[in-house]
Amino acid sequence: MNYSLMIMKPDVLERNVMGPVLTMVEEAGFKVRRLEIVQLSADQAREFYAVHADKPFIGELVEYMTSGPCAPLVVESENAIPRLRELLGATNPADATEGTIRARFGKDIQTNSVHGSDSPESVQKEIPFFFPDFKL
Ligand code: CMP
Repeated sequence: MNYSLMIMKPDVLERNVMGPVLTMVEEAGFKVRRLEIVQLSADQAREFYAVHADKPFIGELVEYMTSGPCAPLVVESENAIPRLRELLGATNPADATEGTIRARFGKDIQTNSVHGSDSPESVQKEIPFFFPDFKL
């Protein structure tokens, strides 16, 4: 799978750091194939994170993801899924390796600035969620 779905979450847009985040993505060798700025509704955020529906943090997660616009993008490279996850760093920025996007921009385990698909199955759902006409 040479594509993955990334989201620059609302804190990135709020803090005007989309440019530096995108620079890290591009300098890591990814091609940005689609990019959009969207305001998610609570229903859309719940649908996107349906896998976390039973988690105690789902309410806060939906609040965070709807607190302002976010920017989903499709990135392309060889082995895009693991390579993107490596660039993003651990879910909890406190555990993220230096040089990763979450280490540089993430605030805490919830406000972790970016999302990346975790498997080919997720990519097959997450790219069409935002970009229904994208040919996988
Ligand atoms: P993401 O990679 O987008 O996948 C699910 C999101 O839920 C995650 O990034 C965080 O924003 C959030 N999240 C994961 N674990 C927790 C947690 N323990 N507490 C609060 N938010 C979390």
